[in-house]
Amino acid sequence: MTVVPAFPHEIVVCMGSACFARGNVNSVHIIRAYLQDRGLEDTVKVTGTLCQDSCKEGPNVCFDGTCMCKVDPSTLPDLLDERFGVK
Ligand code: FES
Repeated sequence: MTVVPAFPHEIVVCMGSACFARGNVNSVHIIRAYLQDRGLEDTVKVTGTLCQDSCKEGPNVCFDGTCMCKVDPSTLPDLLDERFGVK
């Protein structure tokens, strides 16, 4: 039996205090707006996580298990375009 995941993609945003303060508070809003504008809410699960002990590298955001460091919220639309092939 094959289990099909409810969401083919997942974005995990670190919501620990350092990442939150460095920009992830805005990143969550940008990601949600991006997905909503493109009708991708049922394709991409967005979750938050507690501190991942990589605060110095933050703000951290993971896309399908690949974590990116020092994510500037203003670059998220381009990163999401690359990730999901939407232009
Ligand atoms: S707050 Fe994000 S890694 Fe620590």
